[in-house]
Amino acid sequence: MIKTIGVLTSGGDAPGMNAAIRAVVRAALKKGIKVYGIRRGYCGLIDGDIVEMDEMSVSNITHKGGTMLYTARSSEFRTEEGMQIAKANCEKYGLEGIVVIGGDGSFRGAADLSARGILTVGLPGTIDNDIACTEYTIGYDTAMNTAMEMVDKLQDTCQSHDRCSVVEVMGRGAGFIAVNTAVACGAIEVITKEMPYDLDQIAKDMLECKKNGKQNFIIVVSENVGHSQEIATAIQEKTGIEARATILGHVQRGGSPTARDRVVASEMGYYAVELLEQGIGNRVVGMQNNKIVDFDIQEALSMKKPYDEKLHKIAQDIAFF
Ligand code: F6P
Repeated sequence: MIKTIGVLTSGGDAPGMNAAIRAVVRAALKKGIKVYGIRRGYCGLIDGDIVEMDEMSVSNITHKGGTMLYTARSSEFRTEEGMQIAKANCEKYGLEGIVVIGGDGSFRGAADLSARGILTVGLPGTIDNDIACTEYTIGYDTAMNTAMEMVDKLQDTCQSHDRCSVVEVMGRGAGFIAVNTAVACGAIEVITKEMPYDLDQIAKDMLECKKNGKQNFIIVVSENVGHSQEIATAIQEKTGIEARATILGHVQRGGSPTARDRVVASEMGYYAVELLEQGIGNRVVGMQNNKIVDFDIQEALSMKKPYDEKLHKIAQDIAFF
């Protein structure tokens, strides 16, 4: 029976990480397993920034954004030397298992630790929803709602000025936040890396809509597609409609998590402890058909997540008239 585990958050923070930490800590303690919180991800594992957690350590955190364990990206951890120090610290604190809350990069680290005898379980924590083995990642729902609220505000001012707002949302290389925000906000167009786009056609569609009475427009652009300012300038030149660019940026990573993020994070955290309790490691927890499931880490990392082309088409078809 496993006696001691650790929990860490790694990579970009995401709303709901605190709920996951709370679930891990409380579930472990309930099962008589000692829990340590490792601060600043793998950096803390190397530096020995490790603290014992009790029930009260995670009290009143579910509703808070960010991560109470802090997070970081560690380049030292990717070296054999860093890995050996981390392993030695696991032995020092008696850590037989670690729950790693983060994205794909964090799971690669978890696989490396697992290969060195530490049981690891990854929980998908990223606003981007770009982890292939799961339909849902912790933080995604909150980020989408934040993006939606921000675009709604832009829509108000756009309407007053008969303008076009070009809004850039996060997602790293993935267009999930963008396409959902576009549908939720009634954008005239969504531009993501996954689908081709044609600014001349977008301009033509806008002018056609304008003829039919529409005076203000939202275009949602996923980050890494191109420069939203350049897109705004091109749209203004091609249509004569005044355009403004807004980059939402890190605001999408903060804020109080939605109910969905809190609940899924809690379920996944609890599930991770159940795996470790059974001596199962080298797994990533995910959601498939609304059920919590788990995958081998390497298998999870080799999977490809399809983009939601249907939703992209819906966004376009119901926008243009
Ligand atoms: O993965 C989450 C995310 O916010 C991405 O959407 C974005 O590309 C990236 O992290 C930004 O990273 P950083 O906070 O290191 O600038």
